[in-house]
Amino acid sequence: MAELVKDKALDFNVESEGPAVDTSKKVRVGIIGCGWIAESHVAQYKKCPDVEIVAGSDIIPGKAAKFFEKMEVEGAACYESTEEMLAKEKLDIVSVCTYNSQHAPCAIQAMKAGVDVMLEKPFTVTLEEAIEVMKVEKETGRLLSIGFQPRMDNNMKMIKKIVDSGELGDIYYIQTGGGRRRGIPTPYGTSFIEADKGAIGALGDIGCYSLDMVLNAIGYPKPLTVSAMKSAHFGKNPNYWLGENKPAEYAEIFGVDDFAAAFVRLEGGITLDFRIAWAMHLDTPGDTIIMGTKGSLRIPSTECWNGSVGGAMKIYHDVCGKGVETEIPILKTKESLFYLKIRGFIDAVKNKTAPPVPSSQIIYNQAILDGIVKSAEAGKEIEVVIPEV
Ligand SMILES: NC(=O)c1ccc[n+]([C@@H]2O[C@H](COP(=O)([O-])OP(=O)(O)OC[C@H]3O[C@@H](n4cnc5c(N)ncnc54)[C@H](O)[C@@H]3O)[C@@H](O)[C@H]2O)c1
Repeated sequence: MAELVKDKALDFNVESEGPAVDTSKKVRVGIIGCGWIAESHVAQYKKCPDVEIVAGSDIIPGKAAKFFEKMEVEGAACYESTEEMLAKEKLDIVSVCTYNSQHAPCAIQAMKAGVDVMLEKPFTVTLEEAIEVMKVEKETGRLLSIGFQPRMDNNMKMIKKIVDSGELGDIYYIQTGGGRRRGIPTPYGTSFIEADKGAIGALGDIGCYSLDMVLNAIGYPKPLTVSAMKSAHFGKNPNYWLGENKPAEYAEIFGVDDFAAAFVRLEGGITLDFRIAWAMHLDTPGDTIIMGTKGSLRIPSTECWNGSVGGAMKIYHDVCGKGVETEIPILKTKESLFYLKIRGFIDAVKNKTAPPVPSSQIIYNQAILDGIVKSAEAGKEIEVVIPEV
């Protein structure tokens, strides 16, 4: 019987004060896509005294104006054309908050206009699009950060610290993913579930977070092969939507995945076993586990899309030849993760430092999502080929 070792003397919750913000020059911000997540971006920018929200664009006529009224932002210029906004306003940064299929074109447009970009997750829809974005990032020298706010969470940082400490030895197997019993998102409409807008479903909405949690912890090794399946048993079923008090027609609109599973080989002899569900007849498809030659880490089934873990994490390892379990207390993060995401991006832009969540890492995340789609469509394992940028 393993013994439980709890080290209560350790307090991981201490946070240092950030540096004072220089407000002598205001950073001029624009919003591209004035929908649901843009509300969070604006709410965080409003907390930053060194920021001025000057403009927003949305292809739906009148939407940008209504958005700024709701968010109580006065004097922001409103556009239906992102191109026109970028040409007329002297912006320093933009948040690209469009649905997935418009991430690549809008990020490219903005960087070509000389603007630094906070791009919402997932990076893009396809690997090819992500490569195009990275080429423009390189050509223009603009700063690009991808909107993975769980990275800012202290529990997520602890997972990386544990792996980096060598406590687990060499990592050889990871199981990750997650899901909801009922949770296909239609917050303000159907942009998540339409093929020409969301384009990828559970994979792009929550799958990318589960991947980032473990891949960031282990230093983002390159994916080599993917064998995967995907399905849409719930989204395409009218009864699912009736149970959700939504129109049954959503089943006809539904054009993305609501479940995917994959077996991924990573560089360094690491195997990744992944599954993600927007809906299922199950409470959870399992905890995240990171197995190493000296120890393994269990991360109770997570809601990692909002940065939380499902309970205290445990390291299983041997001490003096005996199997013991070390419990890692759940950590608090004082600030909102969404604020830390935006603040970190602004600081990187102002100080000309590296982006908090760089494309050089997330390209591997995107390559796996893309590999899952391609393998599922081909019905067999595929090799992941990532072009040089
Ligand atoms: N980080 C998070 O926690 C989080 C949470 C929710 C959504 N997201 C991501 O944010 C993105 C947007 O999600 P949402 O729920 O806000 O979608 P949404 O449909 O509510 O908003 C997207 C808006 O973009 C507009 N748009 C589309 N193309 C445009 C273009 N070329 N120029 C200007 N406007 C354009 C649409 O008209 C729409 O108003 C998605 O990629 C999603 O994955 C992230």
